[in-house]
Amino acid sequence: MSVPVCRPHRRTAALGVAALTLALLQGAVTAAVVPPRATAATTVPPLVPQPATETAVAGSGFTLTAQTPIEVLSTGTDAVGVGSYLAGLLAPATGFTLPVSSVTQAQGQAVVLDPTGPAALGQEGYTLASSGTGVTVTAHDAEGLFRGVQTLRQLLPAAVESTTVQPGPWTVAAVQVSDAPRYPYRGVMLDVARRFYPVDEVKRYIDEAATYKINTLHLHLTDDQGWRIAVGALPALTSVGASTQSGFTGGTDWFYTTAQYQDLVAYAKSRFMTVVPEIDGPGHSSAALASVAGLNCNDQAKAPYSGFDVGISLYCLSDAQHIANVGSFLSTVITTVAALTPGPYLHIGGDETPQATAAQYNAYAGAATQAVTAQGKTVMAWHQLGQSTLPAGSLLQFWGDAGDRATVGTGSESKSITQVRNGVAQGARFVMSPSDHAYLDMKYDSTVPYGLSWDGYVNAQAAYAWDPTTATAKPDGTGSVVPAGSITGVEAALWADRAYTGSTSLPSSTSQFPDPSVYADFMTFPRLPAIAEIGWSPLSTHDWTGFSGRLAAQGPRWTAAGIGYYAAPDIAWPAAPGALDGVHVLSTGGKSLDDPGSSTAAGTQLITWTTHGGTNQQWKLTKQSDGSYTMVNQLSQLCADVSGGSSSPGAAVIQWTCTGTSNQHWTVTPVGGGYTIASAKSGLLLTTASTADGALVTQQANTGSALQTWTLG
Ligand code: ACM
Repeated sequence: MSVPVCRPHRRTAALGVAALTLALLQGAVTAAVVPPRATAATTVPPLVPQPATETAVAGSGFTLTAQTPIEVLSTGTDAVGVGSYLAGLLAPATGFTLPVSSVTQAQGQAVVLDPTGPAALGQEGYTLASSGTGVTVTAHDAEGLFRGVQTLRQLLPAAVESTTVQPGPWTVAAVQVSDAPRYPYRGVMLDVARRFYPVDEVKRYIDEAATYKINTLHLHLTDDQGWRIAVGALPALTSVGASTQSGFTGGTDWFYTTAQYQDLVAYAKSRFMTVVPEIDGPGHSSAALASVAGLNCNDQAKAPYSGFDVGISLYCLSDAQHIANVGSFLSTVITTVAALTPGPYLHIGGDETPQATAAQYNAYAGAATQAVTAQGKTVMAWHQLGQSTLPAGSLLQFWGDAGDRATVGTGSESKSITQVRNGVAQGARFVMSPSDHAYLDMKYDSTVPYGLSWDGYVNAQAAYAWDPTTATAKPDGTGSVVPAGSITGVEAALWADRAYTGSTSLPSSTSQFPDPSVYADFMTFPRLPAIAEIGWSPLSTHDWTGFSGRLAAQGPRWTAAGIGYYAAPDIAWPAAPGALDGVHVLSTGGKSLDDPGSSTAAGTQLITWTTHGGTNQQWKLTKQSDGSYTMVNQLSQLCADVSGGSSSPGAAVIQWTCTGTSNQHWTVTPVGGGYTIASAKSGLLLTTASTADGALVTQQANTGSALQTWTLG
C-alpha cells in the first residue's frame, strides 16, 4: 500500500499547543487524584448507567430456572419482542430456552414485562422490582421495557454474558429501581468510512452499545477514504468511491447495499436504536469527487484516496454550474438515503473545510439543508454548520474542546464558539461530543496501540469528567454558550483515522490493522459506558469514585462476552474470577503447545504435539498489569515470544529469555469452546499450522479457525 505523508490532522498546527497544554493538565489531574478503588461496601448492585433511584431489597433475589416464564402483559409485537429478546439474551450462558408468553395476569415466580405502566414513565422510563417472588419490569412503552431489560441483565452474574453454557446459579439481585433518562439522545458514532465494518460487526456494536442504553447509532458513511452506501442512480459511488479505506485499496464490497443498510436499520430498531446516516460535505468528499466528475471544478474525477490526511477536499462550489451539480448530487443522494432511514435525522457533516470561502460553504449548506428538509427530515450537522442559515429545529453536534472553552466570554472567542453562538441564535438544539472527552479515537494513554492524541489522552476518567451543560461554558463552568434547555444529548464518536497498531506513525503494512471489531472493542470499552452514563443518569449521581467502582464491575461482564476491552489503569478492575494465573497445558486441534525436544535454547520455535502433559507442555500463565499474560515454559523457563517482536502474520512464536516486552504478553480472550491467545504487541493470534505432530506455531490474523482456539487444561 502507499501512504502519503501525513499533514497536521484535525485542527490546525496552532491548536496543537492547546492540545499539549490539555494533555499536561490531564496528566496533572490524574497524578493528583487518589487512584480509585472499588468500594466493596456497596449496598446495591453496581449498575452502569446508574439508575435515577436504586434501593436494595432484603432477600437473596430471584433465581431463574429452565422453566421460569417470561410473561408479557401485552399482545403488542414490540413488547412481546422484548420478551423474546430477553430469552435470546439469556439462552447462551444459561442454556435455558425460557418460554415467552403474552398474558393478562402475571402468575408469579416469573420475569414479568409490563408495558402498561403510567404515561409519567415516558418513552424510555421503567421501574424494576426484583425479589424472591420474581422480577417485574414496568414501563409505558416497549422501549422502556427494553431499557429495563438492560438493567435486569446487569443484576445477573457476569457469566450471563458468556456465549457458552455456564454453571449458574442465575440469581437476579433483589433490588428496586426507578429510572428514566436525563437526555433523549444518547448516541455513538462509528466511522465506517475510514475503516469499513461489515454488517455483522455493526450489529455486534449495536448490541454492545444497547447494553448501556445508547439509543442512537450515527453512521459516518462518507469521507475522503470511502463512500459506504449504495445509491442506485450513482453506481460509481460504490464501484469507485467504496474501493478504498485508510490504508487499503481494491475493495469491491466495502459498502452497504440497500438491503444491507435496511437490515442494519431494522436490527438497530429491534434494539430501540435510531440510525442517523451522515453524508459528509462539502469537505471530507474525496470519495464522491473520485466517483462523480461534475463535482470537480475541472470536471475530471479525482483518483480514489486511501491515505490518512484530513482537510484535503472540497466539492466545487465556485460557479453556478458546479453549485447546481452539487445540489443535484446531494438531492439524489439524500433522497435515496432518507427513503431508507425511518429515523428523523440526516447528518450533513459540515466539518473541516479549510479551503471553502464563506460563499462556498453557504452554497453547500443551502443545498444540503434543502435536500434534507425536502424529504421531511431534520438536519443534523457538526457545529460548523452554525455559521450558515439553519432550518428550524436543526441539531448541531459540538465537537470542540478545552481550547474553545478557554475563549468563551473573552473578546476573541474561537471560531467554534462563534459558530455555536450563531447556531444557538437560530434556535438550534445540540448534541455534545467534546473531543477531549467523547472522542473514542483518542488514545487512552501513550501505551495503547491505536488512535491519535491530537486532543490529548482520554483515559476513563477524562471520558467521565465533563457535563453537557458546561461543554460550551467557561473553564469555571459558568456562561454556557448553549443553554441547558437546548441540549438534546450526548454522543461518543469512534473515528477510525488510525485504527491500526503503531498508530503514532503511518502504517507500513495492512497487517497492522486488526479486525474493525477488535479496534472498536478496545477503544469503546470502558469509555462508551462513561459517556452513556453522562447522557442517561441524573447529574446528582455523577461521582467518579462511585462510577469507577461500578465500571470496574463491568470488566468481568466484557470478559465473559468476549469483548476485548482496554483494562485502563485508572480503573481498579476486579481480579477475574477464575483468573488464568497458574500452570496450564494449552491445547488445540487435539494437540498441545510444546517446547520441541525439551529444548532449553532461546529461539526454538514452538510446535503442537500429542498431549502428554510433560513439563515441556506446561505453561505458567501470569497476569500482567495490562490484563495480558506471560506464558513461561516449565521445562526451559523461557517465555512464549513473537520472534523479533514482529507485527506480521506468519511470524514464528518461539521461546525466549523473559524480558517483559509486549511481544511476550498474550491477551487471553474467552471464545466459544476455549480461548484465543493474541500477541499484545501485534494483536495476531497464536495459531498452529495443522493437527499433525510437529506443526509449527506462528501468529496469524484471526480467521476463526479451530486451530486458533485453545483450551487451558
Ligand atoms: C470532526 O471530528 N471532524 C467532526
